[in-house]
Amino acid sequence: MAACTCVARVLAVVVLVTAQMVVGRNKAADSATENSNDNEQLRELLGTLENYQYMLCYVVGQDTDSDALYEDYFDNYPEPELVKQGHIKSVANWPKQPLDIGQVVGLAIDGSGRPVLFHRAGREWEANSFDENTNKFQKKGDGAIKDPTVSILNQTDGRLLKAWGENMFYLPHGLAIDSEGNYWMTDVALHQVLKFEGVATEPSLTLGQAFEPATSNDDKTRFCKPTDVAVASSGEVFVSDGYCNSRIVKFDKDGKYLGQMGDGEFNIPHGIALAEDHDILCVADRENLRVLCLNAGLKHPERFGEFDRVYSSEVVGPIYGIAYSPKDHLLYAVNGPTTEGQPRVITIDLTASERSSAIAVWWPDQEGFLSPHDIAVSPDGKTVYVGEVEPHRVWKFDVERP
Ligand SMILES: *[C@@H]1O[C@H](CO)[C@@H](O)[C@H](O)[C@H]1NC(C)=O
Repeated sequence: MAACTCVARVLAVVVLVTAQMVVGRNKAADSATENSNDNEQLRELLGTLENYQYMLCYVVGQDTDSDALYEDYFDNYPEPELVKQGHIKSVANWPKQPLDIGQVVGLAIDGSGRPVLFHRAGREWEANSFDENTNKFQKKGDGAIKDPTVSILNQTDGRLLKAWGENMFYLPHGLAIDSEGNYWMTDVALHQVLKFEGVATEPSLTLGQAFEPATSNDDKTRFCKPTDVAVASSGEVFVSDGYCNSRIVKFDKDGKYLGQMGDGEFNIPHGIALAEDHDILCVADRENLRVLCLNAGLKHPERFGEFDRVYSSEVVGPIYGIAYSPKDHLLYAVNGPTTEGQPRVITIDLTASERSSAIAVWWPDQEGFLSPHDIAVSPDGKTVYVGEVEPHRVWKFDVERP
């Protein structure tokens, strides 16, 4: 990881982002370092923006882009109102020591604020890992991954505190840690969701049937390559299912099937985040290039599955990971590589009255992301982590707000 010059760059991108703006942004990114007056210009600009609403402007690092994009913004969208300002900075020299990890697929933060990685150690998802027709895992004979697949890190220096999860998983995917400190994982090879009461060698609850994929969205006892899990503070469990099904399934805390939503609406629901204060579940609907939020039915069970909002634009792209910060009502979504440019994080303000706004877009300067897979935000909203499949790494970002 690069040293202290490694700052993230940001662009304020507002409501109804147009294709031209995306092009403009990429151009600006290429020539960013040329303008030494950037900071000053930006400060000036932010001074002006303070009177506006519905625009969340994150400024990252010192290496800001030229103001071409902002001009574009003012020309096209002259009536933003509120600005929430902030800075996002990638933490240099974090982790302090290289981590012995494989593809980082799941990321969560535990009750002590420690980032937890779910990774594949020496294993990878290969072209022939699954039977194309049946979705069955074809490498059962290789056994479970023998090395630890879970890494608990010190949030301050990124060093490994504890590794576990050996001899249990075949192809790790999603991770959540609930308010009681239980770990919830999805394994796409097992077609299962597993719950562990803390660091453990045996799951205390298992959903789905090992190696037996569901054959349709109607299956109430099996999944088909489930991607992610989210757990409400009241204990209800949501599972995004998955690569070969298209639905979100809800269970009670004991694993009893309660219902499902969005059947057939998704094209790889790849990650989910609960925003309990809004009673919605936001889905990274990867191949539909959108974030779709549906009613989670926690307060009003009869509203479960109702459409709430959608975020979709050129900058959204294929979202892989999604996380919610209730402190500031911000949704963080990270996308994968697209023809539009390098992967980036999109910050969405759920309280913005213009619901279709994709509010800020950012990525680490210089190196950039290669293939992010998941994102997590600390409960105080001040730290964001991004895990990547390639290279095998995790980023830490400080979010500073006045
Ligand atoms: C975490 O890292 C910091 C800084 O290196 C250190 O002071 C602290 O003791 C570490 N915590 C644990 C639990 O190891």
